[in-house]
Amino acid sequence: MADKGEGVYIPHDHIRENSHVSSIEQYQKMYKESVENPEAFWGKIAQDFYWKSQCSGKFWEYNYDVRQGEIFIKWMAGATTNVCYNCLDHNIEKGLGDSVAFYWEGNYPGDASQITYSELLKEVCKCANVLINKGVKKGDRVAIYMPMIVELVVAMLACARIGAVHSIVFGGFSADSLAGRILDSKSSVLITADGVYRGEKLLNLKDISDTAIQECLDAGFTVNSCIVVRHLGEKREPGAGGDMEHHPPKRPCIKLQTNWHNDRDCWWHDLMADASDQFEPVWLDAEDPLFMLYTSGSTGKPKGVLHTQAGYMLYAATTTKYVFDYKPGEIYWCTADIGWITGHSYITYGPMLNGATSVIFEGMPLWPDAGRMWEIVDKYKVSKFYTAPTAIRTLMKFGEDYVKKHSRKSLKVLGTVGEPINPEAWLWYYNVIGDKRCSIVDTYWQTETGGHVLTPLPGATPAKPGSATLPFFGQVPAVVNENGEELDGPCEGYLVLKQPWPGQMRTVYGDHQRFERTYFQKFPGYYCTGDGCTRDKDGYYWITGRTDDMMNVSGHLLSTAEVESALIEHSAVAEAAVVSYPHSIKGECVYCFVTLKEGKLFNDALVGELKGKVRQKIGPIAVPEYIQNAPGLPKTRSGKIMRRVLRKIARNQKDLGDVSTMADSSVVEVLFQNRPKDV
Ligand code: WT7
Repeated sequence: MADKGEGVYIPHDHIRENSHVSSIEQYQKMYKESVENPEAFWGKIAQDFYWKSQCSGKFWEYNYDVRQGEIFIKWMAGATTNVCYNCLDHNIEKGLGDSVAFYWEGNYPGDASQITYSELLKEVCKCANVLINKGVKKGDRVAIYMPMIVELVVAMLACARIGAVHSIVFGGFSADSLAGRILDSKSSVLITADGVYRGEKLLNLKDISDTAIQECLDAGFTVNSCIVVRHLGEKREPGAGGDMEHHPPKRPCIKLQTNWHNDRDCWWHDLMADASDQFEPVWLDAEDPLFMLYTSGSTGKPKGVLHTQAGYMLYAATTTKYVFDYKPGEIYWCTADIGWITGHSYITYGPMLNGATSVIFEGMPLWPDAGRMWEIVDKYKVSKFYTAPTAIRTLMKFGEDYVKKHSRKSLKVLGTVGEPINPEAWLWYYNVIGDKRCSIVDTYWQTETGGHVLTPLPGATPAKPGSATLPFFGQVPAVVNENGEELDGPCEGYLVLKQPWPGQMRTVYGDHQRFERTYFQKFPGYYCTGDGCTRDKDGYYWITGRTDDMMNVSGHLLSTAEVESALIEHSAVAEAAVVSYPHSIKGECVYCFVTLKEGKLFNDALVGELKGKVRQKIGPIAVPEYIQNAPGLPKTRSGKIMRRVLRKIARNQKDLGDVSTMADSSVVEVLFQNRPKDV
């Protein structure tokens, strides 16, 4: 994109000329069809995929209005397909069998491997047989708690092949979080690994899994099988089965001291060695579930977001194709973890449905040094690159030298996701990483949306730093006020979506009422995103952040309630209130107010214990940055904690706004005085 002044960047000719959508007029034309005639638009796209049987009934059907009855969304119901078949077999039939599906780049430089589409199909079929032998059937949930290794993709696609619903839990979550997700989804099989190094830090995943499985047992639920990938363990003798002998010299080869439960635990490589590499896919209805993925909910209990087969497939594939302008032969790399929705849609499903060649990276951006990402870009000649604002801001801090050491000349499209990107970081991404040659795509979406909602197209959309620009095909955004009235022209309000799109979530697993309450009750007739936004005179959207009790830490949503309930578990805490606080790298961080029980002392040791409690209950991402002693909390006369006031106190802003409903305003002055010294 070229700087046209006034903060507008238009796509460079070299990107525009051979892109799928090469002008804003072409985008507008396609967009118009996508929202006016979704059946024609998505029907044409569906022809690129394999269907065992066609949809004979309604192509799409929905109710978005709680006043009219139950909320439902259906796309292509009655058609049958298999997403794994479309990711693998269908591409192989098109001649992509020998092309690389994934380059795997390990944490340790030099530790790398690759796998073609045909090889991956064999592994997936073996794993499908393994799961069937473990008693997994269509519709059963399988929990996956793994590092960023190829076996993770194998496991998820194997689930998809047999119609099991994968429930991937991010490898950075704690045993408690894992247990909660296994219990809620009733997953009787867990797939994990012995351990993983992230930088120099060892994560003993099997140990954490053992703790989680025990917690499930204590709660009355049995995990029947725990399948363990040997990722770090000792090198085995050649011929011992599996393909695990490539242990590179640099990966530390350690035997982790894990307890082994013979009746439950099995090594992945043992099971895979005995399994057939053929497996006929289970043909599934378009509206059968594909996977579930937990996301924080404002009441504190994570929600199992459920996605289904056909719609998700069409949407993940189409967004990948257009938003990254993916073309055959290009190398694509998304740095997210597969444990988040970004990894589901834009490492596994979207790229594979396009027959893409992608990089999977196990490590982290700063290790062994801040040039690692650009070293990988050069090594594989990555042209489409997707990361998060928090990573960009972190790298900015380390300066340009680490970037300039590497050529990066293969790069064409640079994507960002997870939170609003500040214009300074956008410009650094554009000027320094992209050498002013690349298109930046700021993609706004959610776990719930399955794929991009607002985003530029790299060859078509003039970009403005900090704006996610315009709706993707099929999306009909609107801005409403507190009363749910749609606003016209330039405005500020709540971002809602007016019409369903194929990749939309269908329900909260096991709690359809919560789905209706969370997304459809506040503004009947609309899907409520929970985000605030402004719309400018050109119709561009600028996300201003969450409007509910959610915090966005490094691009990951946390609810204030889940952190509060972790804090309250500490025996010294009587009451806790949590708000977000701005952070230069993470975007937002966690700021806590705690009221202690009589006679308890607030000191550094207690602060350490409270942080430990949050780490144990949720995981390292949720650990509070600041914890402040609060002899009292500002509350309304009806007893509700006024987080709005606490947010101001955290930020040391004295203009509290309307506090007429506050029961006892004397607490406020004390809280201002008690602010931690390091904020
Ligand atoms: C929330 C969704 C979607 C994958 C990662 C996060 C915020 C996400 C952007 C963006 C401004 C963004 C929103 C959204 N968000 N991308 N480009 N600009 N805000 O998934 O955990 O479901 O979080 O992240 O607040 O609602 P998630």
